[in-house]
Amino acid sequence: MSPIKPAYASFRSIGAYVPEKILSNADLEKMVDTSDEWIVKRTGIKERHIAADDEYTSDMGAKAAELAIERADITKEEIDLVLCATVTPDHFNMPSTACIISDKLGIKNVQAFDISAACSGFVYLLSLAKAFIESGMKKNVLIIGAEKFSSIVDYTDRTTCILFGDGAGAAVISATENKEEAFIDVHASADGSYSDFLVTPAPGSVHPASVAMIDEKLHFVQMKGNETFKLAVKTLTKDVKDILKDNNINAEDIPHFIPHQANYRIIKAVGDALKMREDQVAVTVHKYGNTSAASIPMAINDLYESNKLKTGELMLLDTFGGGLTWASALLPFMGK
Ligand code: ACO
Repeated sequence: MSPIKPAYASFRSIGAYVPEKILSNADLEKMVDTSDEWIVKRTGIKERHIAADDEYTSDMGAKAAELAIERADITKEEIDLVLCATVTPDHFNMPSTACIISDKLGIKNVQAFDISAACSGFVYLLSLAKAFIESGMKKNVLIIGAEKFSSIVDYTDRTTCILFGDGAGAAVISATENKEEAFIDVHASADGSYSDFLVTPAPGSVHPASVAMIDEKLHFVQMKGNETFKLAVKTLTKDVKDILKDNNINAEDIPHFIPHQANYRIIKAVGDALKMREDQVAVTVHKYGNTSAASIPMAINDLYESNKLKTGELMLLDTFGGGLTWASALLPFMGK
């Protein structure tokens, strides 16, 4: 009997979708008491994309996934798991957005489900894909981070409406026997004692849908921005230091540091604390804003489409979001 060969998880392809409509800082100046100068200085954001009224999280996720599958050079029939990270699903309870995306892609008889980890969702999915593949249960996992964040933003609240945008990113993670192509490490963590830092209070079992829910605007995202900011810088920096130390890798040897895109000041503070050069750090927050679970795959796709990300190059991903949740990953990009 031949010995069972080990399976490793490998990042095979990337795809993304950005909705057409742009919401600029100038547009927001007409909606709330804010200014382009304040937004750029405090966040680095210049514009964000907003989905059309009849364009849903699953539509954006399916378009990103279609591209990722094509670039992975596999057929849809070869995909045996579809995972979607989102906090803005098509429907809050059921069905899952992963099920709807599978249907839109024409993928039948596949295991499909959503996870909720806010901005950390995509890196959480990497840890799941790795576990499913290394256990031998699955061979080709389609992971999607998709958000229609505009559906839970109060466009009369200047403290949140300037931050978020819509979009989607997707990747195919496949089994390989070649350890050189494999994920090096994924860390994922959470601390629910900070759950009130970022919350959409309703609808849910605490506040089922009601007229009061609408009157009190409980269906919109609420954020303790300043407290979240400070914790984000501290946690993101520590997380990167830990994963690099655990794997004996120096920050200066990372060609692509791809942090969650929430605020340029957070990205800069973390990059500086790690002594990263500007050319190592991916920045897309100026054009997309914070797209939550879609932020990291959209940033990877931007690097890929601008020919800055080559096969075999190391990516360091680092993210932080509602929960609170945080996660980091070290892995080579194995797309073509
Ligand atoms: N325009 C003008 N003034 C504003 C605006 C605005 N859009 N928003 C707030 N202000 C005012 C405030 O009212 C306040 O005024 P005051 O001093 O008179 O009270 C002042 O600006 C300063 O407000 P702060 O909240 O202290 O501003 P800060 O510098 O912290 O920036 C921001 C706010 C951009 C929200 C920042 O705190 C931030 O980026 N936080 C972290 C976001 C994040 O990382 N989230 C995690 C991921 S998101 C997810 O998981 C879904």
